[in-house]
Amino acid sequence: MAADLPDREHPDRVRWNRRYREREERDRARPPSRWLTSHRRLLLKLPKGPAFDLACGTGRNSLYLARLGFEVEAVDISDVAVDRLRTRAARRKLPIRARVLNLENAGLPRGRYRVIVNVNYLERKLFPAIQAALRPGGLLFFVSFLKGPSAPLRGRLNPDYLLDPGELLRAFPALEILEYREGTAEAPAPPGKPRSAFLLARKNK
Ligand SMILES: C[S@@+](CC[C@H](N)C(=O)[O-])C[C@H]1O[C@@H](n2cnc3c(N)ncnc32)[C@H](O)[C@@H]1O
Repeated sequence: MAADLPDREHPDRVRWNRRYREREERDRARPPSRWLTSHRRLLLKLPKGPAFDLACGTGRNSLYLARLGFEVEAVDISDVAVDRLRTRAARRKLPIRARVLNLENAGLPRGRYRVIVNVNYLERKLFPAIQAALRPGGLLFFVSFLKGPSAPLRGRLNPDYLLDPGELLRAFPALEILEYREGTAEAPAPPGKPRSAFLLARKNK
């Protein structure tokens, strides 16, 4: 149903625009994903080139990758988030091209990216396109929430947007899994903290 609506009326766009307008202050202070920052040395060793941040939000992960030297393409359905990322990138003179895109209907260029980042967004239809979009040697950082009693926004979030335990291990058969874990970003985690799956995978050829 949602896929037939013009993108400006898409419920996800309306909902996320409202959230980004309400939380500007808090959002600005959010650090990049720990799954990325904990692999800084690996990222620094990678030849630089295009990186892709799917559902980038206001771009905490795009900004981090651009600071490491990648040319970042960032997309999100929320025009509020994309505008904010453009402003942040311009102010810091960072090479980030941010645009509004509904990823439900998107195709991705094949063999283009040295790094793809997908944090806290889940569109299973995109899995084959994500692995095809990496170039040989390219890395995929994928983090998304797991089903379970402490899943975020319990009762409101569609369970289709939550991963099954172990699901990411089978999601990208063309990639080599370098690391995988399930848990919380923080260790030890505060009680009731939602659990996520964390994947780092590489395309070898
Ligand atoms: C939890 S936020 C994660 C943002 C960012 N990846 C981060 O880690 O800060 C989820 C993002 O998915 C975006 N989103 C939701 N549905 C989308 C769609 N169909 N196409 C593109 N982006 C979408 C939202 O606008 C929101 O910015």
